[in-house]
Amino acid sequence: MLTELRSNIESIVNDNKVGVDQRLQQICDLLRDKIPYYDWVGFYFRNGNKEELKLGPYAGEPTDHTIIPFGKGICGQVALSNENFVVPDVRAQDNYIACSINVKAEIVVPLFLNGENIGQIDIDSNTPDPFNKDDEEFLEFVNEQVAKIL
Ligand code: SME
Repeated sequence: MLTELRSNIESIVNDNKVGVDQRLQQICDLLRDKIPYYDWVGFYFRNGNKEELKLGPYAGEPTDHTIIPFGKGICGQVALSNENFVVPDVRAQDNYIACSINVKAEIVVPLFLNGENIGQIDIDSNTPDPFNKDDEEFLEFVNEQVAKIL
């Protein structure tokens, strides 16, 4: 499934007639629709020169957490660590920002542009412990594709 979706991602990214935010929206919608355990899919980007993340396009329930300071929550930690963060059980995390009581697990993968961590893709799952190495590699691929149009 994840392998097959790579060509869909490339098609979306390469569709220059569509605006960048709209293409990011299409990616969020595609991933949420096609991958059963991806219940919320969104991009966060660094907010100008501030030490905080700002929510970009997303698919799923609206969240109050449209601004996340660096260091706060899983997302804020990834802004500083530059590393993928896979959370099999969100209840086991002290530094976690809950968006919905239904969320059981989360994965956040940083997005690099010219080697700089400028944002991330964030997935919430209502299924416990659903993510593995294939998800990490797939989301790294998504972010590499997205970086081409930023
Ligand atoms: N759970 C995230 C906050 C963002 S929501 O998942 C959309 C965190 O702990 O950073």
